Amino acid sequence: MKVLVIGSGGREHALCWKISKSPKVSKIYCAPGNGGTGEVAENVDINVDDLDKLLDFAMENKIDLTVVGPELPLVLGIVDRFQEKGLKIFGVNKECARLEASKDFSKKFMEKYNIPTAKYMTYTDINEAKEGLKDFSYPLVIKADGLCAGKGVVICNNKDEALASLEDILGKKVFGKEGDRVVIEEFLDGVEASLLCFVTKDRIIPMESAKDYKKIFDNDLGPNTGGVGCFSPSPLFTRELRERIEKDILKNIIYGLNKEKMDFRGILFIGLMIVGEEPKVLEFNVRFGDPETEVLMPRLDVDIIDLFEKTIDGSLEEADLKWKEESSLTVIITSKGYPGEFKKGLEIRGIEELDEDIILYHNGTRYEGNNLLTNGGRVLSVTALGESLEEARNKVYSNIDKITFNGMYYRKDIGKTIINK
Ligand code: AMP
Ligand code: GLY
Repeated sequence: MKVLVIGSGGREHALCWKISKSPKVSKIYCAPGNGGTGEVAENVDINVDDLDKLLDFAMENKIDLTVVGPELPLVLGIVDRFQEKGLKIFGVNKECARLEASKDFSKKFMEKYNIPTAKYMTYTDINEAKEGLKDFSYPLVIKADGLCAGKGVVICNNKDEALASLEDILGKKVFGKEGDRVVIEEFLDGVEASLLCFVTKDRIIPMESAKDYKKIFDNDLGPNTGGVGCFSPSPLFTRELRERIEKDILKNIIYGLNKEKMDFRGILFIGLMIVGEEPKVLEFNVRFGDPETEVLMPRLDVDIIDLFEKTIDGSLEEADLKWKEESSLTVIITSKGYPGEFKKGLEIRGIEELDEDIILYHNGTRYEGNNLLTNGGRVLSVTALGESLEEARNKVYSNIDKITFNGMYYRKDIGKTIINK
């Protein structure tokens, strides 16, 4: 079969890599892809939000299955558009994508269905929002309602910072319409974990846990990023915690989706904060995570095409997911300046020097002739499996310096510290 993957990051490279191992697949396209996806798939120069062109391409090339990586096309309704034309596509429909597209919508859903989460209020009026601050203690969290490419969440340590954030979002409209509403939220102090689940009809099936590192510097210092390192499984996920998540969170999600008549078929990524012993939901995403996908794909021990197809037709069961016992770890090499301003087009050397058991995913690269160049803030994910987390970690760190480019940077403590504050 012919598969089209939509997106251009490390997540999509990891998906293409895993899809390429399926005996059912004869050809993979990736739109728009990157330097790495070009090695396992044919890159197609169409942007992720150009639904008309993506649809035309899928029709003309008789694509048997399309797999959507990022949230934007889901929120724009790509799944609904493809389904209208009778095309098979893996991802959630526009209505279900609201769980990621609107923080207010997802918080209301959590509140209505008793899913543990931080206390919150939503405001559209700046004066009412300023007034509302008195109901929270510091630190507190201010979130723009819509999609803001990971930049819409501010942790405010005092009233001046909170007033400045409200002014930015509701006053100056720094996120445009995506910031027409703000959510003010209680700050949760705990350890974060990502739980990605396949959801279909009345079933929610969690994958293995993963621990994402969001801060740019060692010891979880500096600004938030899209994620600069990750490992799986997370030792935090004891049997007790899993059972608690099942009972307090997953059951309520499925109940809520059914009650709201939301036909959710795809990935639900639950961002959790474990506060003491208690898991609370920070946010929902309706897609695979990046870099979670980079560590989960090497551990997945079944044909991912079967999982996609069974999710679409509603027959997926827990027993369909099988995982390798090994641990997996990835360290993302970033370009100097990220998550702020950074240069692109820097020549990367040394990727052919990596040991054979290293899996290298490209996050932001492109080829110019035979030269591999940086093309994003997150550049490469150096990934390995190991009998233990430590073994995976040692493999990655003993290889990573074989790669070089100007201003290359990476965290040295991935897999070493799991506590984030
Ligand atoms: P979100 O996009 O809602 O997951 O927020 C991005 C990041 O901000 C999360 O991964 C957390 O690190 C942090 N964050 C969000 N909400 C809270 C909260 N209520 N308490 C503490 N940290 C939070
Ligand atoms: N790793 C966090 C995300 O994909 O949103």
